[in-house]
Amino acid sequence: MHDMMYGNAQRGQVDWKVLGKLLPYLWQFRARVGLALTLLIIAKLANVGVPVSLKYIVDSLDASLLQEAGMQAVVVPVAMLLAYGLLRFSSVAFGELRDAVFGRVAERTLSRLGLRVFEHLHRLDLEYHLSRKTGGLSRDIERGTSGVSFLLRSLVFSVVPILVEVALVVGIFALQFDFVFVWITLFAVLVYIVFSVVVTNWRTAYVREANLKDSQANTRAIDSLLNYETVKYFNNESYEARLYAHNLLEREQAKVKNHLSLAALNSGQALIIAATITLMMLIAAHQVKDGVMTLGDLAMINALMIQVFIPLNALGFVYREMKRALADVEGMFDILELRPAIMDAAGAQDLPATADGIEFHNVSFAYHPERPILKQVSFQVPAGKKVAIVGPSGAGKSTIARLLFRFYEAGSGRISIGGHDLVNLTQDSLRGAIAVVPQDTVLFNDTLWENIRYGRPDATDQEIQDAAQHAMLTEFIDKLPKGYQTVVGERGLKVSGGEKQRIAIARALLKRPRIFLFDEATSSLDSRTEQGINRSLQTIARDHTTLIIAHRLSTVVECDEIIVLEDGHIVERGSHRDLLQHAGRYAAMWQAQMQMEGE
Ligand SMILES: Nc1ncnc2c1ncn2[C@@H]1O[C@H](COP(=O)(O)OP(=O)(O)OP(=O)(O)O)[C@@H](O)[C@H]1O
Ligand SMILES: [Mg+2]
Repeated sequence: MHDMMYGNAQRGQVDWKVLGKLLPYLWQFRARVGLALTLLIIAKLANVGVPVSLKYIVDSLDASLLQEAGMQAVVVPVAMLLAYGLLRFSSVAFGELRDAVFGRVAERTLSRLGLRVFEHLHRLDLEYHLSRKTGGLSRDIERGTSGVSFLLRSLVFSVVPILVEVALVVGIFALQFDFVFVWITLFAVLVYIVFSVVVTNWRTAYVREANLKDSQANTRAIDSLLNYETVKYFNNESYEARLYAHNLLEREQAKVKNHLSLAALNSGQALIIAATITLMMLIAAHQVKDGVMTLGDLAMINALMIQVFIPLNALGFVYREMKRALADVEGMFDILELRPAIMDAAGAQDLPATADGIEFHNVSFAYHPERPILKQVSFQVPAGKKVAIVGPSGAGKSTIARLLFRFYEAGSGRISIGGHDLVNLTQDSLRGAIAVVPQDTVLFNDTLWENIRYGRPDATDQEIQDAAQHAMLTEFIDKLPKGYQTVVGERGLKVSGGEKQRIAIARALLKRPRIFLFDEATSSLDSRTEQGINRSLQTIARDHTTLIIAHRLSTVVECDEIIVLEDGHIVERGSHRDLLQHAGRYAAMWQAQMQMEGE
């Protein structure tokens, strides 16, 4: 686990320019950010006001003490003390208010970024999604968004406040005292920051190593326990213990180094603080003795310096974490910068509502250049007609479907609908016109009802029930104790293959498209159910242009044309009757299937 946390940071150089990419998001909330910054300054003013009021309290007590010698009663500066308390409270109150105001900005920015990444991922092409690992991707996004949140928060809650505080303190010193205090403060803060950054960079290796060894020891222990049986089979308990002991020792050493380096950082910082404050006190004490400064001034300088250094303490941590967050955010922005392989052409048109009929003209295609899949494929599905593609597994049938849906771009040749080249159409209008029943249907882990409704989210209840009826689902659903409200399990694993296919068909019917594309849509169904569905389809899809991909030839008998695809070539074409007469590939396949069913 922990070693992964450093995965991106290990890429080496961190690009601080990434911060710039966050600015547009902050700019959207400029009013709120401005308000948060104002509150921040008020809080810091109050914070700095505390030592200032302390000065006046000390001075007035000091004055009364001096006068006491001359018989005067001690006057307690009540007003000053009240102001002191009020300032102390305000500095906290305004700080909290700032957090509340800015919290909204951070959260909203996160939502917007999250949504942008999500939408972007859906825009990326199928090939990208087939090649990536979903787990890794969601980890990237999660790390990226939490990185953004950390950056925004640490900027507004750590870095900027420190700068404001230093500026205020330096301002007071400049106005009230000798300039030597200004120089000392600036110099000390500079040394402190440089020291923290350098030592933190040096420590990063130790932190990383400690985390790595920690996770290695953990993995080893878990792996060993998971293999409990194997360990017993081979009497290897002591061997396992030795391995684990070795891992633990390494972890221990790494952790000790980590602690030592942290101790070095903390002591170095403390030394710088102590030296600075001592030096300032020395000078101040001299000036008090000389009557240039009051006792209150001395107390104030002391309090101010401590106040400046306290937030600086966290600087090493903030710096390290910011570097890591930047690397994570960069990973997420990298995803956002990926260009989908398939994009709408400039000036792409919507597919006209009347366009119909499919044409493939000399289409060749390869997923990888060295292995051509489709070779010069040409065919037509005239408007309202049904065409089937049959052929052995791996021939390229589903590939034709993917090209028509424009999941991939045809390598050469032309695919058109109603004479409109797909390349010139918007993907949205193209996909809106086609309903697909894919070869492998995957369902959402939701109810049957919602899964069917997915075909057209604004369908009426009656339409959903009709679609289920046409897809021969009603009998199955009626038997379920929870009926339509049954949840189908992740990826639909709790319903059978045939039930899943029927849900996919119901969905497609609900979409009410102009073109149907069935890829082995009924392959898992028994022949009685299949016949039932075919009857429904004959009524519903009667006037629809339909492309059917099938293994079982009984489903394609009725088609206007049957295309036999083999190894990316069209080897035969014609009606069922023609092909049987031709006594070629199709006739042989038909014979074989008839025999199988006869048996
Ligand atoms: N994304 C991909 N990247 C690389 N090769 C692929 C990809 N998708 C499919 N292929 C290959 O392309 C060939 C044709 O695949 P396709 O899915 O079109 O076959 P099919 O005719 O539908 O077969 P089946 O009847 O088994 O469904 C196959 O050999 C397959 O391995
Ligand atoms: Mg296929």
